[in-house]
Amino acid sequence: MTENITTYNITTFGCQMNEHDSETISGMLQQRGYIQVPDRDDCDIAIINTCSVRENADKRFFGTLGQLKKIKVKNPDFIACVCGCMMQQEHIIEAVKRKYPWVDIIFGTHNIHEFPDMLDQLYESRKKEAVPEGSEIRDRRAYNIAKHDVRSAKNTRVVRVYDDKKEIIEGLPAKRLYRHKSFVNIMYGCNNFCTYCIVPYTRGREKSRRPEDIINEVRNLVQDDVREVTLLGQNVNSYKGESGGAGIWDFTDLIYALNDIEGLERIRFMTSHPKDLSDKLIRAFGECDKLCHYIHLPVQSGSSNVLRRMNRRYTREQYLELVRKLRDTVPDIAISTDIIVGFPGETEEEFEDTLSLAEEVRYDSAFTFLYSVRKGTPAAEYEDQIPETVKHERFGRLVDVMNRCSREKNAAYVGRIEKVLIEGYSKKDEGILSGRTDTFKLVDFPGDPALIGQIKNIRITESNTFSLKGELEE
Ligand code: 5AD
Ligand code: SF4
Repeated sequence: MTENITTYNITTFGCQMNEHDSETISGMLQQRGYIQVPDRDDCDIAIINTCSVRENADKRFFGTLGQLKKIKVKNPDFIACVCGCMMQQEHIIEAVKRKYPWVDIIFGTHNIHEFPDMLDQLYESRKKEAVPEGSEIRDRRAYNIAKHDVRSAKNTRVVRVYDDKKEIIEGLPAKRLYRHKSFVNIMYGCNNFCTYCIVPYTRGREKSRRPEDIINEVRNLVQDDVREVTLLGQNVNSYKGESGGAGIWDFTDLIYALNDIEGLERIRFMTSHPKDLSDKLIRAFGECDKLCHYIHLPVQSGSSNVLRRMNRRYTREQYLELVRKLRDTVPDIAISTDIIVGFPGETEEEFEDTLSLAEEVRYDSAFTFLYSVRKGTPAAEYEDQIPETVKHERFGRLVDVMNRCSREKNAAYVGRIEKVLIEGYSKKDEGILSGRTDTFKLVDFPGDPALIGQIKNIRITESNTFSLKGELEE
């Protein structure tokens, strides 16, 4: 804690959408003059931005809540806040209210903009029940919280969560994670209802921002030294934005317009759904010079049968055809994916279809997941849940294939000269710079920190499974 200055710390679980929401929360708090600190144990306000996509994230969240209690016991004025996808689930909110009385503020994914107001409400109600510094009551309150006494925290708690939001709130500030690259949310929510996935229930229905608002935001970011934007949406390529003057824009219309922004160097997007990957968008890869040669295209399974049970609305063959078209248009395009292993009823043959698809596509990288039951989704009710041991065994085999492909793909870069946007210091070594190729490969190389933010030619000298090493090319 810093004297007289309010400090905060944000812990973020989950996807880029959550990362970006945390940037917005941070922006709003900094507007109030609050200061972000790296140490959660020594801050005035801690915010836990949760993810509900997989069971693992749930477990980590409840572990983190336990740690917040220790801070509260030491400092009864400490404010513990939880937000994000998990807070859009009724049973989770109930559990937090019942078992974690030291949580002061709960908000959801649709009302991040209300957080400062909720803080004010909390301050106000605390003023009413204020206890003098060092008094016995004050100590008792801390003691009660430590003893899980719900009443001790009841009066001060502020909870606001909505099912969905009517309109998109524009103009919220954001404190960017990187100076030269930025996330830009272009749509929210998902209408797809894949049978394993909780997101349509926590993030609501699809809503797209107006193209004018997005273009303005990107122009302002470029003015502020941003060279690369990543367009975000749960289902980004089903974007349909209503323009004031030009009717409905689809995702590709937006890409073409952003490609014309002077000073912007790179455009990326995630996450796209194969069913919405149009020929028009594939053509844009060939025509828009700023659109990076990289796509994250989750396949989830290589078996058409499993894909049908997942409600993915494409077959193995249709997916492979998309990959073929992408590579015909952009031969050097890098492709990554998400795969779920052990979906209910997945047979050994169906799993082998996934292995063979992976061999056929030869992905640059992949996120592989063990299927986890999400309460409230159709697949949670399916019979034939796969035993954990079988899931793990299949997972190991898949990761072996994926890592081999990544290694081979990366090895092919050795000797090439690649344009790298230098993002900052390497996570492993402060003396080394780090950046990304157009194809999203991470490259570490020695260089002058003054180069951060520039795009430079780097000769690739070494490769491994997840990254490359190189040297600055004069
Ligand atoms: N179990 C395992 N993985 C899941 N994903 C989404 N829901 C589940 C689940 N219930 C994975 C999908 C998605 C990624 C973000 O998380 O692969 O693309
Ligand atoms: Fe979940 Fe499917 Fe929507 Fe992706 S497309 S967020 S996996 S329901």
